[in-house]
Amino acid sequence: MKKIAILASGSGSNAENIILFFQHHPFIRIDSVWTNKSDAFVLERAERLNVEAHVFTKNELAQTDQLLVEFKKRKIDLIVLAGFLLLLPPKFVREFQVVNIHPALLPAYGGKGMYGARVHQAVIDNKEKESGITIHLVDEQYDHGKILVQAKCSIDPDETPETLAEKIHQLEMEHFPKAIEKLLKKVPKVN
Ligand code: GAR
Repeated sequence: MKKIAILASGSGSNAENIILFFQHHPFIRIDSVWTNKSDAFVLERAERLNVEAHVFTKNELAQTDQLLVEFKKRKIDLIVLAGFLLLLPPKFVREFQVVNIHPALLPAYGGKGMYGARVHQAVIDNKEKESGITIHLVDEQYDHGKILVQAKCSIDPDETPETLAEKIHQLEMEHFPKAIEKLLKKVPKVN
């Protein structure tokens, strides 16, 4: 069995979608959900879906090896960032395969502080004709690393951050679990 740890900071709609997608999967299973926000809605989703969930502090992530050691102990094969808003310390990226989803067509509209409605507002302000999602491997920089999948949507003349968010949400639901599955078919079991 290949094991996934999901890191999320917010609502967790991607986390939920991934959990449901892999619920009865023959060789991939969601080991656990991890969040840096004790009030994140992802915790309620995890509980409802019977997935183990944990809260950690920014300090535990950045200043200690607690999480890293825990992931190694659990023999995690892939870390999935599903709306995780902290920068993962470099040692995680060196020890594990990590994949992220971003609600825009990177390398445009990425970087620190670019998440949620801010991304969509910037795209609309710049009068872009299209936006989309990027699923990419994570390296030591924000929203950077080898791009695995991009999917696009058009921007209507009366587009708002809310309507664009809904289009992006649909793309995320459709593509993220499949991209994770494809990636895990290739990752050799290291532990
Ligand atoms: C998603 O739209 C994801 O692309 C974005 O956060 C949202 C999380 O939604 N990630 C980033 O902006 C990363 N830079 P969710 O909590 O409902 O899954």
